[in-house]
Amino acid sequence: MLFSMPGVWIKNFGCQTNVYDAERISALLRKEGYHTVTTPAAAQLIVLNTCHIREKATEKLFSDLGRLRALKTGPLPPKIFVTGCVAQALGKEIWQRAPWVDGIVGPQATHRLPDLLRASSQPVLCLEKTLPEKFQEPILSDSPTKVTALLVIQEGCDNGCTYCVVPSTRGRSFSRPVASVLEEARTLLQQGVREITLVGQNVNAYCAQDETGALCDFGSLLFLVAALPGIKRLRYTTSHPQDITDTLLRAHATLPSLMPAVHLPVQSGSDAILRAMKRPYTRTLYLEALEKLRAARSDIAFSSDFIVGFPGETEEDFQATLALVEEVSYAQAYAFKYSIRPGTPAASLPEQVPDPVKKQRLASLLALLETQQQAFYRQHLGQVVDVLFEKRGRHLGEITGRTPHFLPVVVQGSTDLIGSCCSVRLTKGLSHSLQGEIAESSL
Ligand code: SAH
Ligand code: SF4
Ligand code: F3S
Repeated sequence: MLFSMPGVWIKNFGCQTNVYDAERISALLRKEGYHTVTTPAAAQLIVLNTCHIREKATEKLFSDLGRLRALKTGPLPPKIFVTGCVAQALGKEIWQRAPWVDGIVGPQATHRLPDLLRASSQPVLCLEKTLPEKFQEPILSDSPTKVTALLVIQEGCDNGCTYCVVPSTRGRSFSRPVASVLEEARTLLQQGVREITLVGQNVNAYCAQDETGALCDFGSLLFLVAALPGIKRLRYTTSHPQDITDTLLRAHATLPSLMPAVHLPVQSGSDAILRAMKRPYTRTLYLEALEKLRAARSDIAFSSDFIVGFPGETEEDFQATLALVEEVSYAQAYAFKYSIRPGTPAASLPEQVPDPVKKQRLASLLALLETQQQAFYRQHLGQVVDVLFEKRGRHLGEITGRTPHFLPVVVQGSTDLIGSCCSVRLTKGLSHSLQGEIAESSL
């Protein structure tokens, strides 16, 4: 049977929204009779689900397309479809550099893939933004043992940070109706998922109608999802410092299943740069947002994103970022060199920072962040924490899971524990994970 089914190879780039989209694409294609293959050479259909956030991300698509070109001259050439944010941003331009591409489909038209694949004339271009339809059906996981799942509740962004392509690739902010979010969450929990991460470019901007027609904000949605039977853990990403509402704070203060790890990107510690980036807060307001969250739940650990070398960033501005990092002490963070994105306001700013300066700043910021991350890991040694086990470990007899703060933990234990939470004594720090011993299991 398997032999007559066409094979699809999907490669994903980019953020959690894209990971979720790739799962949706895979589920849609399974319904169409495709099975997933692990190499492009074995595929009749190749889907590259792309990211446009930095130049490097976009260039990865073109180097992959260069490598895949050879398959097109083979005896059974696969179809190659480019989906996601590069598709939306560059559209037809992709064909100028890679005319062997068969389809270009924007991130909000991926539900149209089955129709487009059936279309008699190809190549096809579909950049429609038909958002509610994209989420019409809940996705069915292909893995019966999946413990954690992503659930996109919001997509697009109205903020218009001057460096960012997301508002143009994903469009205006759209929030899925409450009923559709809850239906998908219930489906996931029935399939055995125990931890749900609510995902969006700006999750706390969420605002949609509930079943009674009333408006539900992000904090209220957290209460609804946390009340679903079977849920052990709830997380969300990415949140924006400007939307820390009272309901969100109440959710952190009162919901034990809402995990104490918050990703709250600051981008820069300098008010002048924040203004130029059009981030709608100051360093002080950001620190206040963290304080409010800490007051709601004292053990919250923070993570962040940073951009170094934004146009006009002086040495003092950069030092202000380092000082902010020292002040906050992050559990984890990502830092990027500013990348000029065509069509964004910051691209035409005159004072672009030379690359060697960006490189140097990135290296010193990363070094500081790494020290903080290691210190955060070390603080946990000797403690007994709750670990939700997710899967087998790399070595025989090992299982792995995460702490409430999202730190990966490896223990010796039975695979029967996968999907349950256990008390684990953390005994040893590895380079980017912890080792522990099961202290008590509470199936
Ligand atoms: N919506 C989220 C971030 C989405 S993009 C937020 O506002 O926090 C993920 C990260 O990529 C951003 O936080 C930012 O740090 C980085 N990023 C976005 N555009 C960039 C650019 N032009 N150059 C370098 N990094 C960028
Ligand atoms: Fe981009 Fe800013 Fe929107 Fe985040 S908030 S997606 S950085 S425009
Ligand atoms: Fe990249 Fe698009 Fe996500 S540009 S970061 S895949 S929203």
